Amino acid sequence: MSKTILVIGAAGFVGVPVTKQLLADGFSVRALVRNAKKARQLLGDQVEYIIGDFADKAALEKALTGVDGVNLSVPWQFEAAVVRDVTSILAAKGRKNVRVTHISGTTALPENRWYPMIDEKLKAEEVLKQSGVAYTIFRPSWFMDALALFVRDGRATIFGKQSQPYYFLSLADFARAVSKSYQTEAAVNQTCIINGPKAMLMQDALQQYCDVVHPGVKAATMPTWFGKMLAAMLKSESMKDFVKMMAYFEKSPKVSAPNGAEKIVGASTTTLQEWLKTVKK
Ligand SMILES: NC(=O)c1ccc[n+]([C@@H]2O[C@H](COP(=O)([O-])OP(=O)(O)OC[C@H]3O[C@@H](n4cnc5c(N)ncnc54)[C@H](OP(=O)(O)O)[C@@H]3O)[C@@H](O)[C@H]2O)c1
Repeated sequence: MSKTILVIGAAGFVGVPVTKQLLADGFSVRALVRNAKKARQLLGDQVEYIIGDFADKAALEKALTGVDGVNLSVPWQFEAAVVRDVTSILAAKGRKNVRVTHISGTTALPENRWYPMIDEKLKAEEVLKQSGVAYTIFRPSWFMDALALFVRDGRATIFGKQSQPYYFLSLADFARAVSKSYQTEAAVNQTCIINGPKAMLMQDALQQYCDVVHPGVKAATMPTWFGKMLAAMLKSESMKDFVKMMAYFEKSPKVSAPNGAEKIVGASTTTLQEWLKTVKK
């Protein structure tokens, strides 16, 4: 019988490719979702849907019944709380062997803790490690797929002087690594640093993205103070948060050193050029 993995956040940017990869690799997938119709449209009928909020302990308990693994792909603001609730339920039921996979980030390092997202990611990592529940933590670099976030109303804008190169990786490679982690005991209690094949400046990656997906659009740079002003004018909370995040990355935060995780969960080999061939125009 195939292993069952519960995906929390299955209908999200990261959760969708992870869920699809798990299905493709023969796992049974259960998803805890708030909106079954939306999730079904994205993920189809092969997934078993449990309707509920991840802040609802009863819904979580129901979703965790009988699973072999749990993948957490939730918005960063909730990471530590969800990790705490999931691991408490598993520990209380004596099921510490259920493997929890969790997405952290390449800059999740103590020196970057001043930034709230990193503080939350480190808290989630700490809670998971201290819980005694089996885990695999992933610290991926920037996803190529996130380049779409820089394009708005036909303009491609990088906020802040982004002078640190990142090893951009495809979400599909990341999803393969998550699925692989459930196929090998070597991934148990490991933190996997996941990088793409080549370090690139954001400006260069975005221009290559635009050349293929938005021909004729030039990637421009805008100071973060201007971005904050624009977000206020447009009354856009999502843009405000995005600019805040870019102000953090403008400081070239230290990144995690590679730790050989590719030997355990496979290498992210897709280049930006290869990935661009797969992107819907
Ligand atoms: N390295 C990178 O480049 C990169 C890029 C993006 C994200 N990330 C990381 O990936 C993780 C996931 O982010 P994401 O962009 O995939 O987030 P997302 O697209 O916002 O998806 C989050 C998912 O969580 C679900 N959710 C939210 N609140 C919920 C609740 N109370 N109960 C049940 N489900 C709930 C959402 O469901 P609904 O569909 O109902 O809203 C959605 O399916 C974060 O840790 C983020 O930091 C990394």
